[in-house]
Amino acid sequence: MVQSLLKGAKLVLALAPLCASLASPTTASAQPTSEVLHYWTSGGEAEAVKVLKEAFEANGGRWIDAPVAGGGGDAQAAVLRARVLSGDPPSTVQIKGQNIHEWAAAGTLKTLDDEAEAGNWDALIPEVLKRVVKYEGSYVAVPINIHRVDWLWSNPEVLARVNAEPPRTWEEFNATAEKLKAAGYIPLAHGGQPWQDATLFEVVVLGIGGADFYKNALEELNEDALRSDTMVKVFDQMRKLSTYVDPGFPGREWNLATAMVMRGEAAMQIMGDWAKAEFLAAGEVPGEDFICTPTPSNNGFILNSDSFAMFRVPGEDVAEGQKLMASLVLDEELQRAFNLLKGSIPARKGVSSEGFDPCALQSMEALASAEESDALVNSLAHEIVQDGAVRGAFLDVITEHFNTDMSSQEAVNLLAETVMLAR
Ligand code: BGC
Repeated sequence: MVQSLLKGAKLVLALAPLCASLASPTTASAQPTSEVLHYWTSGGEAEAVKVLKEAFEANGGRWIDAPVAGGGGDAQAAVLRARVLSGDPPSTVQIKGQNIHEWAAAGTLKTLDDEAEAGNWDALIPEVLKRVVKYEGSYVAVPINIHRVDWLWSNPEVLARVNAEPPRTWEEFNATAEKLKAAGYIPLAHGGQPWQDATLFEVVVLGIGGADFYKNALEELNEDALRSDTMVKVFDQMRKLSTYVDPGFPGREWNLATAMVMRGEAAMQIMGDWAKAEFLAAGEVPGEDFICTPTPSNNGFILNSDSFAMFRVPGEDVAEGQKLMASLVLDEELQRAFNLLKGSIPARKGVSSEGFDPCALQSMEALASAEESDALVNSLAHEIVQDGAVRGAFLDVITEHFNTDMSSQEAVNLLAETVMLAR
């Protein structure tokens, strides 16, 4: 813990003078001010967002913290909707994928083209993220990270008790889970919340169907793919996973599931690399105390990314705050400092990989090779593809199947019907 905190602190100290040149000079009458609505409330998330807050303040800004607890952001999205509908939007919002487009289409977001031009975003932001943060040709958000969703986090000590290593195929996964169960261990730490169920589901879709199938079914919503035998196999695997979790899983937050792996109460967790931030914040060392391996797939990569969008809120102080925030997010040192703590990798090209842990380095390499082999896919659970209605249709069926004795074929039929209606 001490080590990772120190690392973070040193970076923040280094960051303040570096970022100072970015902000326009603060006038006494308009202190850059941002109310920042976010859901980074777990241990690892809080350490990362602190870096951003401290950089904002070091550059003369006033940060009004508006956190909403609840992993995955569905609770925060509800607060945001209520705030916008009541005419009181927060000025700066942590936001993902399709939500950005939906709020832009509703005319609620400021465009950031001036900031983009001044900061050379065209050259800095990777192509895979431009689609996410641009709407009708304009920048309407600024990305802070790239999270990989398809990760398996293992406790090597627990696995060793049944002579196992992190599984590399789904057959191995199931065989290891059965051994663990027979020996009285919880194979899979999981929190039964729709977004977490959907995280398992998309990982299994990629693993069993491959990247092309993932794109057909989850990105293009091809009905044949949704109704296919491959999708039946996906639900067969989901049924197996539902037997590897402990009875306390319903409603559990994702970071409490991570803590079960840390404490050796469970052997593995399938979760994006924000889980790594929890291990790091607890002082655990990758490769020793915990092991990161991609979930079984043919070199795929499920992309998730967090961004900040600026809502239309009056006031010069707010406008200045939004400008400052937009200029800070892509700053090279901030990208380093933030992503080292968040578990993700930078959302900007050209950040040195020095100092990143082996899991992050693996993620950087996997992203590049997945892009090259067309095996890069966009997360549905984390809203990088599909609007709220379609995502909701998936989540309803996935969660119902996970929590009942619905057969795989019934789940497939229901999924195809609900998704086709919602699209
Ligand atoms: C977000 C992460 C966050 C995680 C858990 C994901 O959807 O992209 O930033 O840490 O949810 O809250």
